[in-house]
Formats: sequence, C-alpha cells, structure tokens
Amino acid sequence: MDEVTFRSGTVLSDVHLYTPNQRHLMVRLNGAGQPVFQSQFKLLWSQDSQMDSGAEGGGYRHVHTQESPPAGPSGPGSPPGSGYSLEGFSVQARADSTGQEGACAQLDEDGDLDVVRRPRAASDTDPAEPQRDKVHPTILTQEEEDFLEARAPESCPQSIIKIEHTMATPLEDVGKQVWQGALFLADYILFRRDLFQGRTVLELGAGTGFASIVAATMAQTVYCTDVGADLLAMCQQNIALNTHLAAAGGGVVKVRELDWLKDKLCTDPEVPFSWSEEDISDLYDHTTVLFAAEVFYDDDLTDALFRTLCQLSRRLKNACTALLSVEKRFNFTLRHLDVTCEAYDHFRSSLHALEKLSDGKLRFVVEPVEASFPQLLIYERIQHLELWKIIAEPIT
Ligand SMILES: C[S@@+](CC[C@H](N)C(=O)[O-])C[C@H]1O[C@@H](n2cnc3c(N)ncnc32)[C@H](O)[C@@H]1O
Repeated sequence: MDEVTFRSGTVLSDVHLYTPNQRHLMVRLNGAGQPVFQSQFKLLWSQDSQMDSGAEGGGYRHVHTQESPPAGPSGPGSPPGSGYSLEGFSVQARADSTGQEGACAQLDEDGDLDVVRRPRAASDTDPAEPQRDKVHPTILTQEEEDFLEARAPESCPQSIIKIEHTMATPLEDVGKQVWQGALFLADYILFRRDLFQGRTVLELGAGTGFASIVAATMAQTVYCTDVGADLLAMCQQNIALNTHLAAAGGGVVKVRELDWLKDKLCTDPEVPFSWSEEDISDLYDHTTVLFAAEVFYDDDLTDALFRTLCQLSRRLKNACTALLSVEKRFNFTLRHLDVTCEAYDHFRSSLHALEKLSDGKLRFVVEPVEASFPQLLIYERIQHLELWKIIAEPIT
C-alpha cells in the first residue's frame, strides 16, 4: 500500500502511529473491508528464566524506562489514540523522514477544539537524556517476514507475539487496534506471575487479544472476551498465531462473547463465540483474576463495565482480583474552556463508588498500582498510563 487516506472520524493506532507506511505488511481485508496488518511485539525477557514460576517479578530482565511529558490532547470520548482525523480533514498516516506529522487544530461538530498531538521526533530529544529506544513494535514487510521465517530455528519464538490488527478504524471498531494500555497491563501480568500461574482468568474488552495471549503463557485457562463477530474472529486468529506461547505454559485461551450491556452470557450454540454450560461452570467455579485494558472511553460503557465487574464478582465462587489499565487522556473543550479528562474522571468516580458499595456480602478494595514494575514490551510508558487493582472479597 503506497498511501492511506483516513476518513473523518477515523481513529489511528497509537502504537503504530510513528511507523513509516511503506513497512506495513497488510495481510488481508477483514469482514468490514478494513486492511488488516500483522505486527510482531518482542518480549524483552531472558530466555533461561522465562519459564521460572514463583514470586512476583522473578526472572526478567529489567528494561530501562523513561517518563515522557504528559500526552497532549486526545482521547476516546474523543476516541482513544493520539492521532485521529478531524471533521472534514484527511490525515495521512505516512510520517515524514523525521517521523513527524504537521500539528493542526480544528473545531469539531460541537465547537470543541480538537488538537492533534504531534508525535515526538528524534530531534525533540533533550540532549541531556539518554537516547530513546524505538517506541514501536516491528511491523513486517513481506520480505522481512520471509527472512524471519527462514531464521525461525535460531530465533526464540517464546519472545515474539504476532498480532493481526487494523491501524485505522471508526470508533466502534477501536478493539481491532492494539492500545498502549494493553502493553502496560501485559507488563504487569508478566510481573505478577503469582496471580496468573495455573489459574483461570477472564479478560473483558480484549480487542486483539494481546493481554490474554500474555496471560496464557502462565494461566491454565484464559477466557478472552469482547463483542462483535468480526472482532472476535480477529482475536481468535491472533490466539491461533500464538498457540506456541500458550502451549509452552500449558494454557488454553477460549475466545467468547461477553457484552457488558447484557446481563446473560450467550449460550446459543448457533451463535459464534457463545458459551457452553461447561465453560460457564468453569468460569464461575475457578476464576480468580479479571482484567481489562483501555476500556474507559465512554461513560455509558464504563458504567456497563463496572456493573459487569460487580455481577461477575458476586457470581464467582472465589475472591477475585481485577486489574484495570487506563490512559488518562486530555481534551480542550470550549464547553469547559479548559483541558479536561472527562472519561478518566468518570472512571475514577466509578472506582470510588465501587469502594463505597455495600451489599453486606462483598467488599471491594481499590488501590492504584505503582508503575515501577519492569517493562518487557516496547512502548512509551508515559506517566498517564495507570493501573488499578480491585480486590473483591467476602465480608466475614
Ligand atoms: C479501546 S479498545 C481496547 C482493546 C484492548 N483491550 C486493547 O487495549 O488493545 C476497547 C474495547 O472494549 C470493547 N467493548 C466496547 N463495548 C463493549 C461491550 N458492550 N461489551 C464488551 N466489550 C466492549 C471494544 O470492542 C474494544 O475491544
């Protein structure tokens, strides 16, 4: 593909925004006619220690991480992602030789000021700071894919996660991209092996399935859930591309539909990705960890997700831990005449409400997780990436 012109309302992939267009390997068109690309995400762990089990953080190479300045205005309320097209604008995905796109501003339909965040260029680096690593995953050309395939016997397949994804989608399809919060959450999953080793776990709003694939390197069963047959099929394809990772730890990933807006799990065998009665019993009897990345961009969906979390916690036989990653995104709006982060604020007030919730049976303990755990995936760990832990435990 020489050049992609994105329609208005398109959400561009945050993780891939910095990459020059000509290096993308388009593998197919999906059911909605969107180009699907394949990327490789490298895990920077040490080969000899990766299969160690045991305590938190054991056996990984600690990768130097840096904080970048706060992200500029963007966000899914506004959609997630640092780049998205403006009403009436075409934004070219191709970065120039410095990887820099022109920054521009425009009012949206409601009169809010939309400002496109300018990606950092190499020339922005403070000379006093150490040189940054590349902040994007490897995106393959066909030749590179052939080359890597040829080298497969020497390379370590346990350190590569292959993901099919889109790079530009309408807001309703944002799950087809990989979000930084998924990489951030995956880092924590790798750090907290003790929570995942041999367990049954459930991901909500899994999108491409990235975090579930990482969890499956340790967990016994991962229920990887989202909505929409096209997205779930893409997710299933990613699970299939990475079975060697799950198999190494003995884990199984089951892709299932779980819609936060519905009270019941679909058990109709005619419906793709529906649940069997055995799945449901296994889920309720054995699940001890719930996790979700980057699912707080619309207040109604946030409310629905918190309802689902409560409902699941009550149905699970065991006490459970929920891990939620979120990127605090800012928007300048004319309505407030200020920079605000409304979706994030709503998320925080939902956490607060959860802590206050009392049904006499279950208590929810909420705490932030300090972002000091090792970084094993390549992405920009900005200070606005946050992780929250919720422990749901019976009141004795
Ligand atoms: C921004 S994407 C994040 C995807 C993935 N967790 C990641 O971080 O790469 C938000 C996800 O929430 C899912 N989602 C939205 N509404 C949902 C609903 N009602 N029930 C279940 N999942 C939903 C979307 O399909 C999408 O996969």
